[in-house]
Amino acid sequence: MQIRAAVLEEFGKPLVVQDVDLAGPKAGEVLVRLVACGVCHTDMYSSSGVDPSGYAPCVLGHEGAGVVEAVGEDVTSVAIGDHVVTLFSPECGQCVNCRSGKTNICIAIREQQGLGYLPDGTARLSRDGDELRHFMGCSTFAEATVVSEFSLAKVNPDASLEAACLFACGLSTGLGAAMYRAQVTPGSTVVVFGLGMVGLGAIVGARLQGAERIIGVDLSQDRLDIAMAHGATEGFVADEHTVERILDETGGHGADFTFEATGNVNVMRQAVEAARMGWGVATMTGVAGRGETLDIVPRLLITGRTVLGASFGGVRGRTQVPQLVDRYLAGDIDVDAFISHRISLDDVNQGFDLMHHQDGIRSVIQFS
Ligand code: CU
Repeated sequence: MQIRAAVLEEFGKPLVVQDVDLAGPKAGEVLVRLVACGVCHTDMYSSSGVDPSGYAPCVLGHEGAGVVEAVGEDVTSVAIGDHVVTLFSPECGQCVNCRSGKTNICIAIREQQGLGYLPDGTARLSRDGDELRHFMGCSTFAEATVVSEFSLAKVNPDASLEAACLFACGLSTGLGAAMYRAQVTPGSTVVVFGLGMVGLGAIVGARLQGAERIIGVDLSQDRLDIAMAHGATEGFVADEHTVERILDETGGHGADFTFEATGNVNVMRQAVEAARMGWGVATMTGVAGRGETLDIVPRLLITGRTVLGASFGGVRGRTQVPQLVDRYLAGDIDVDAFISHRISLDDVNQGFDLMHHQDGIRSVIQFS
């Protein structure tokens, strides 16, 4: 079939929206008709060419939500008509990692996904007979896509797909970091560094876990205000005295839980330093630049702090994304407030511009 899709032709250049060919699903694969797709930093990062593992040409996009239109042989977990969210972090349920119960990093399709292919090592996307590669196993800047069934979470059809798509990446990463990875405890004090989509997710997750104090830190007063609307109890604009200020405001101790959501290694260090002696847990969610390292004074560890990291917030996608969507439906997460702009696929580059200027929290592409 022919579909419209946004193609990364050349690094550092705008995406080109055009007609491409999409082959039907093979065994274990699913054809999804996209309804909504968030525009995320990872898409912009890949298109910039800074990511050394990037490749072109490919169809970008990974924060998708839509409806199953066809299934290949042996697909058992979804059926035609199901509402689904795409998962750049898949869950096969069978590999050694999935069976361990200790990690959400599924290794079943990881290698081929990283190369831009579906699990059998081929692409369903093409143009004039030439292969176009997939992106993060999703390629959702497109009217339709074919993905592994391991890359789809089936969600409650009562949820709007526009809201559901935000659970595909940043929001779930923040929620999961607080709820599943760090497991914030009731009554605790939490600090979140960086209040983009991931940091705001961590604020909400900390609130759902029953934290008593939730301190937001960001360079933007606007974002601090948004964080207050979602559960932050206080906040301040970051400066060179950020760590001292947190220590001051926590009786000199530091916070029970800190979260870093910036990708900046200096902020990561602050998150460790602002964690409490004895039991403070500092969780890193941001992606640092290649070759950058995190400096930690070992004394901070010997005196009882723990440093954690999580990809996709430790969320096991097919199991837990549906549960998070249910919390949205229960009124626990105000997802709609995070959607700041609604754009068409043709305006995808404008979505990058908005993100670049930190205008709003999330732009969502609507497919009509
Ligand atoms: Cu993303």
